[in-house]
Amino acid sequence: MKQFFLDGAPVPFEDGDTLMAAATRAGHQVPHLCWHPQLAPSGACRLCTVQVDGRMTAACTTRASEGLEVHNHTPELTALRRQLTQMLFVEGNHYCPGCEKSGNCELQSTAYALGMADMRHELLMPQRPVDASHPDLWLDHNRCILCKLCLRASRELDGKDVFAIGGYGAHTQLLVNAPDGRLGASALQADDHAAHICPVGALLPKRRGFAIPIGQRHCDTTPPPPLPQDADHGPT
Ligand code: SF4
Ligand code: FES
Repeated sequence: MKQFFLDGAPVPFEDGDTLMAAATRAGHQVPHLCWHPQLAPSGACRLCTVQVDGRMTAACTTRASEGLEVHNHTPELTALRRQLTQMLFVEGNHYCPGCEKSGNCELQSTAYALGMADMRHELLMPQRPVDASHPDLWLDHNRCILCKLCLRASRELDGKDVFAIGGYGAHTQLLVNAPDGRLGASALQADDHAAHICPVGALLPKRRGFAIPIGQRHCDTTPPPPLPQDADHGPT
């Protein structure tokens, strides 16, 4: 079988595999927020950036090829991924202690794994709405990181087209395909894949808040392994 090398370890792959798909299948962890094994990659978050022949590239959109030397865990990549994560916190309104997703949140656990202790920049604190119009689901735009997982799951798994991305720059936002632009008038149903795929606390079910106590949640009990730290953030 063909193989490439991830931090020196051989990773077998099949034709058409991305670096991310093959590495994950082989049991390696490449940090990511917008990749899902059942969905086409979108390259939205760049958290999966790796180094291939000295060049930075997204592991979720780069095809594997024979003999490639890929670096995943280096202090430089940790620093880059931490900056990207800090910007996600800065651009939205993420108050982890009061968020229902705390302990189950991919953004929060990624920040911990990266050793992120501050935001580094001033918070933008944008004014964003909460859409509570759906009988079974909340959409809190304050926490949306524009990963497009809900959008792709709706199209590719549910056969619907509930979400889109609109706007530019700081005004980019998740749009809802409904006459009034709100979730309650959309085709989204509580058991859709799209309703359960959000990696943060932006799209949540109603009436199930804190069903699992904080401290006993997935990331509380199975924290991601720490990544190599750069000079500003402690020993490697
Ligand atoms: Fe991603 Fe959640 Fe925002 Fe959808 S609502 S784009 S899944 S963060
Ligand atoms: Fe690759 Fe988000 S996981 S860009």
